[in-house]
Amino acid sequence: MTADIYTARRQRLQSKIQHGIAIIPTAPEVARNADTHYDYRHDSHFYYLSGFAEPEAVLLILAGEQPQSILFCREKNLEREIWDGFRHGPEAARTHFGFDAAYPIAQLDEKLPELMGNQSTLFYPLGADAAWDARIIKIREAVKAKARSGIRAPHEIRDVRDLLNEMRLFKDTHELDIMRRAAHISCEAHRRAMRHTRPGQFEYEIEAEFLHEFCRHGARHPAYTSIVAAGANACTLHYVGNNARLNDGDLLLIDAGCELDSYAADITRTFPVNGRFSAAQRDVYEIVLAAQYAAIAAAHPGKHWNDPHEAALHVLVQGFIDLKLCHGSVDSVLESESYKQFYMHRTGHWLGMDVHDVGEYKTGEQWRTLQSGMTLTVEPGCYIRPSDKVPHEFWNIGIRIEDDVLITASGNEVLTQDAPKTVAEIEELMRHD
Ligand code: GLY
Ligand code: MN
Ligand code: MN
Repeated sequence: MTADIYTARRQRLQSKIQHGIAIIPTAPEVARNADTHYDYRHDSHFYYLSGFAEPEAVLLILAGEQPQSILFCREKNLEREIWDGFRHGPEAARTHFGFDAAYPIAQLDEKLPELMGNQSTLFYPLGADAAWDARIIKIREAVKAKARSGIRAPHEIRDVRDLLNEMRLFKDTHELDIMRRAAHISCEAHRRAMRHTRPGQFEYEIEAEFLHEFCRHGARHPAYTSIVAAGANACTLHYVGNNARLNDGDLLLIDAGCELDSYAADITRTFPVNGRFSAAQRDVYEIVLAAQYAAIAAAHPGKHWNDPHEAALHVLVQGFIDLKLCHGSVDSVLESESYKQFYMHRTGHWLGMDVHDVGEYKTGEQWRTLQSGMTLTVEPGCYIRPSDKVPHEFWNIGIRIEDDVLITASGNEVLTQDAPKTVAEIEELMRHD
């Protein structure tokens, strides 16, 4: 049963906490204008521990002699449910999601001082939300005020995210199953985009192909705003205007992935609008692709976090020298960082419930060792803005190739390998009769 997964995660957190109380609120609803809201997205930590997707909810986890997990959530309200839809209410939430107790959120301020009393440590995401910080601090002050009755307030506040980030860094089989499906849907969307792209269309028409493909597979939202960047727009790393016309001869860089059941896919593909790479485009593309293969080959258990980046960088720098974009030896270009004119970001990030997922990249001063169960992106690129120091045929070429990779016991699994990325695969898929 799915509830068992969340119960087991709460128990793991309890054993890490040992003694104390953890308070984990979900995300607030955010007004868009008047009485409409942005699409609601729960807090990832809260959902990771509860599976509960409604707004206005808080999870309390007590560890120690009498471990308990308690949910505070919205009450049933038939009038509101007629307008806005189903709410579990505390009783159904308790049984459905396996909490020890559940109460109406309106009772939080009244019940929390009692639950917080005599707990040594408060585990809380301090600084994540100012309104929650003020509320929790006020409740702790109210507990302190009971000192003469022999009740002690937690004397220590620790950031519960330090524990949760580490738990979330290692994906369990339930999570990997969802991530594989998110990856599959997103690969299908990239294939669809390659099939539908023609000169003369607008970037937003291709964005629409992604939204269509995501949604029709049950992934109602992209994991982040899709980047659909034609020609020079691809050299703006976070371009999201998506409103320019696709010109014959341009490349189209698309960084888009869906969110499915709270997990992200994050894929970038770059392909020619007219289905055929020019010689200059192909030269740069093959370098980025070789860099990506090198980085994936370095994403193995026992390697450290920075190894894939360093592997990609070596291939890119050699390629930049070969194309006369950079000058000197590989070592001197790395030393001077002149490559940063064309490659200014890192080669990946953790991936999970958040597209830039939680988890430390270093242990002390050392880059973290890659281990089975970690998921990351591998996304080298090359972005060439016009410059009189750069051969003209390369101007405005922007290329990134991004895959999602699971570290396994024996190596890795590329979750997104169904999205074509060799020149031959792309040109074959885009060939129109
Ligand atoms: N799509 C965001 C990223 O690639 O990091
Ligand atoms: Mn990424
Ligand atoms: Mn991306």
